Amino acid sequence: MTTSIAATIRERVARIETMPSIPAIFIPLLELLNLPVERVKLDEVVKLVSYDNTIAAQCLRVASSPLFGLAKSPESIKGAVISLGLRKVETILLTCCLSNAFPAKSWALDPTLFWRHSLGCAMVCRKFSDKLGGGDGDKAYMAGLLHDIGLLVSCIAFPKELTAAFALANQEQTPIEEAERTTMGFTHCETGRALAEKWHLANDMLQVIAHHHAPEQSEGAQPLVALVHLSDLLCRMRGMGYGYYERRRVDWVADPAWAILQKEHRNLDGIDLVRFTFEMDEAIEEVFGLVSTIFGGTAARN
Ligand SMILES: [Fe+2]
Ligand SMILES: [Fe+2]
Repeated sequence: MTTSIAATIRERVARIETMPSIPAIFIPLLELLNLPVERVKLDEVVKLVSYDNTIAAQCLRVASSPLFGLAKSPESIKGAVISLGLRKVETILLTCCLSNAFPAKSWALDPTLFWRHSLGCAMVCRKFSDKLGGGDGDKAYMAGLLHDIGLLVSCIAFPKELTAAFALANQEQTPIEEAERTTMGFTHCETGRALAEKWHLANDMLQVIAHHHAPEQSEGAQPLVALVHLSDLLCRMRGMGYGYYERRRVDWVADPAWAILQKEHRNLDGIDLVRFTFEMDEAIEEVFGLVSTIFGGTAARN
C-alpha cells in the first residue's frame, strides 16, 4: 500500500464524527480476560460493569435468554456470573461493549453476520489454541473477536466503497479482501489498523487486525496472527463467513500460516483436522444462539 493511501485512510478514520471511541470499560475488561480465571476478582468485574448501565442491562437481558436455560433470570451481574460462569459473562459483556461502540445503521454488511463471524472466530481461536497447548486461549479469543474490526470501520468510513466491494465479492464469489483490493485499493486490514492505533491497542492485537489475511507479513506475534488466519478460514468454510458463498479451495496444511505455527508448536502435525472441524460445529451452534439473542435477526448461514 502506498503511503498516500495509508494517509487517506488515517485521515478519514480520524475525521469521522461517529467513529467509535473506545468504550470506557472495554480495555479494563480485556485486561481481566487476560488473567487466569482463578485470579479474576468477581467484585472488580461487577464494579467495572456498574459504570455502564446500558451494558449491564444488555448483559442481564442476554443472560436471561432461553439460550442459557437458567431456571431463574439473574438480577445482577454477580448473579449472572454465579449462574453462568465468569468466562461466559465476559464474552457477553465484551460483545455488548463492541456492539454498542458500533451502533448498526445501514451497514454494507449485516451486523448479525459480522458478529456471528467474529464470535465464531473467537471461539474457534480459543479451542485451537487450547488444542495446541502452551498458548494463551483468552488472548486468542480476543484476537478472534477483534480481527475484522476494520470491516466496521470501513462500514462507517467508506460505506459506498465497501458496498461495492461486497457486491463484487457476492457476484464473483471471491473473498471480501480480494474484492476490496479490486474496488478500493485497500482492505479492512488497513482501516482496522487505523482504529487499533487510535485505540492504542497492544501490538499483538494490532498485528492480528492488520495482517490476519497475510500472517507472514506481520511484525511480531506471528503465531497468533497465523492462528487467527486459519480460524477465520475455518469459520468461512463452515457457514460462518460474511453471508455469501466463497468459491475457493482451502488447504490449511499448504497455507503459509500452517508453516508459521509448525515452528512454534511441534504437536501441530498430530492434530486430526477432520475431527477438529467437527468439534468446532458445537461451538458454531452456540455462536448462532448467542448472536441472535444479542442482535436478533435470523441471517442465513454462510
Ligand atoms: Fe478479515
Ligand atoms: Fe474474518
